[in-house]
Amino acid sequence: MSDTIIILGSARKDSHTRTLLRNVFTGIPHQLIDLLDHEIAPFDYSSNYPNSDQFLQLADLMAGADNIVLATPVYWYSMSGVLKTFMDRFTDLVSVEKDKGRALRGKNVFLFSVGADVFAPEGFEVPFKRTAEYLNMNYHEGVYISSRGENFEGVQTAIKAFERMLG
Ligand SMILES: Cc1cc2nc3c(=O)[nH]c(=O)nc-3n(C[C@H](O)[C@H](O)[C@H](O)COP(=O)(O)O)c2cc1C
Repeated sequence: MSDTIIILGSARKDSHTRTLLRNVFTGIPHQLIDLLDHEIAPFDYSSNYPNSDQFLQLADLMAGADNIVLATPVYWYSMSGVLKTFMDRFTDLVSVEKDKGRALRGKNVFLFSVGADVFAPEGFEVPFKRTAEYLNMNYHEGVYISSRGENFEGVQTAIKAFERMLG
């Protein structure tokens, strides 16, 4: 069990988001879950999921951590589709798997986002903040890092921010 779990939702394995996570979390113990390594079926109103679906396993891993970092690139001013598919499944945690949803109460949630623009799009953090609030989790300020050029300054600021937030 790790205190800090990072849920990474880039559309590629060798991604900017992963590289920047590695730089920022190098000195912070964590478990990294790349959603591309897991089968997460799209939300189904009938809760009809294949046996190979791994969403509930990941929900258990989140329940075993104190801090949950949701990491995503900015794609079209929003979170990645990979992470959105994962977050849509939170609906299961307030319907058919309520115990697992209750297990997330009080967890700290942080947003780690990466985009080409200098600043995150306006309102980008709203779905994360509101979802955390809905699930009675504690949303904390996240970080946004611009991936254009060598943004060393952004990484240093993010390291300090996470050390402060997780310390
Ligand atoms: C489909 C797609 C949409 C994108 N849309 C945006 C955007 O709206 N704003 C932005 O700043 N960057 C945007 N980008 C740039 C990526 O956020 C940026 O290159 C990021 O570093 C990619 O991270 P990744 O390697 O984890 O995918 C987009 C990239 C892709 C592939």
